Amino acid sequence: MDVTEIRSRLERFGQQHLLAFWDELDDPARGALLADIEQVDLALVADLVASHVSDPDSGATLGELSPPSCVAAEPGTPAHAEARQLGETLVAEGKVAAMVVAGGQGTRLGFDGPKGTFRISPIQDKPLFKLFAESLIATEQRFGKPVPWYIMTSPATDAATRDYFAAQSYFGLEAGNVFFFQQGVMPAVDPRGRILLAEKDRLAMSPDGHGGSIRALASSGALADLADRGVEVVSYFQVDNPLVTPVDPLFVGMHQRTGSQMSSLVIGKASDTERVGVFALAGGQLKVIEYSDLPETLATARNADGSRTYDAANIAIHALSRTFVEQITRPDSSGGGKSMPWHRARKAVPYIDATSGRQVTPDGPNAVKFEMFIFDALPLADNPLLLESRRSEVFSPVKNADGVDSPATARRDLVRRAATWLAASGVSIPRATDGEPDCTLEISPLAALDADQLAARLKDNPPTIEAGARWYLSGD
Ligand code: UD1
Repeated sequence: MDVTEIRSRLERFGQQHLLAFWDELDDPARGALLADIEQVDLALVADLVASHVSDPDSGATLGELSPPSCVAAEPGTPAHAEARQLGETLVAEGKVAAMVVAGGQGTRLGFDGPKGTFRISPIQDKPLFKLFAESLIATEQRFGKPVPWYIMTSPATDAATRDYFAAQSYFGLEAGNVFFFQQGVMPAVDPRGRILLAEKDRLAMSPDGHGGSIRALASSGALADLADRGVEVVSYFQVDNPLVTPVDPLFVGMHQRTGSQMSSLVIGKASDTERVGVFALAGGQLKVIEYSDLPETLATARNADGSRTYDAANIAIHALSRTFVEQITRPDSSGGGKSMPWHRARKAVPYIDATSGRQVTPDGPNAVKFEMFIFDALPLADNPLLLESRRSEVFSPVKNADGVDSPATARRDLVRRAATWLAASGVSIPRATDGEPDCTLEISPLAALDADQLAARLKDNPPTIEAGARWYLSGD
């Protein structure tokens, strides 16, 4: 497309200021600017400005909420055994893939680099990506079929993530079974809906949220690749959670067995104010209400027995049927009009003033960014399932540099889980007076993915663990 055509297109959408500095740009800068502009769906931005910026109250009402029902699959019950068996069969048939969203930058963590490269394991100092890779290798060893792994990156993390995997020889995974795909970006706009310039030759763009993974799966070819491989279920997780089991046959089996199109693992909230989204029924539809949107009266509400009313925390572990993703990514005409909503976030975005050419660093929020959230696919799904799980087994995210949800709490929780598994195998764990393990423990996912596997492994040769020990179990 030539610049005259682009100029008239921009004029149609009131965005002609994006070419304000055209005459002073050299050829490479002009090329960069045009490439940025071509990435933007101007009609979509105009719609979003009308619905989310000009009318700031739209979408703000939650409507009537009620707590959702969650399913428990208790070990020892027929439902548990059947679901697990089904999940294992699906994995063994190559019908399950793993998918991680790794497009965010570790801003809150203060870590410079893709978060998946952050070293977290308590003794070996393994990065998050390595823990996930070992878990997938262990799953392959157990069921005899590789689990393809889809890794969503963003412009900020893509090259560094690919380079890291290459430098680490894919942690032993077959490179052909690791599929990187990049999420989309959206421009930031000012309160009048004008797209901001980050530089005279660059638009202010940011990732389109983890919900952008759905459209990115389709546009990148990952969805077609899933179909070619015969994958039926995608096991979705976030890069920040070292306790996640990337592919849990029980969860996958429950998802498939109940005919759910999208399922979520849930745990009880740690406190009324924990910064997690909660599942709720809104107008009969299953949704996640973000902590920032949940009114205090609901966050603190109690049932007659004293338990928390809105207790089902979103830990961002989901199972998605491949056909469901296909259905909601088809153009509206054939997709039944199902589409995911956009959210706005008010942010401070530095920009170039299109009139003066001066760089402006705002003191407070001056712009609106647009994002999609993966959990907004739930209301579009048939028979969505919430499966109860236990926090100590599945969730301890690394979000902040210190305090809650930090590297220190994640390492502590990895050690605690290892201690629980070892104790269940009959191993005596030295404990401090406060009950915490008085030792540092690490179990490679290659050695065991759960307590049962550990017990089977240690049956004939249980270890002795002394107080103060650093005890690591490798997969060798
Ligand atoms: C998120 C959930 C919250 C849940 C919590 C559990 C939202 C809005 N909230 O909160 O309901 O209880 O996780 O830990 O998501 N990411 C991308 N691309 C993006 C944005 C994010 O790949 O454009 C990835 C990040 O790399 C990360 C994950 O999504 O793996 C979570 O993003 P983050 O913004 O940290 O979510 P939280 O606010 O912590």
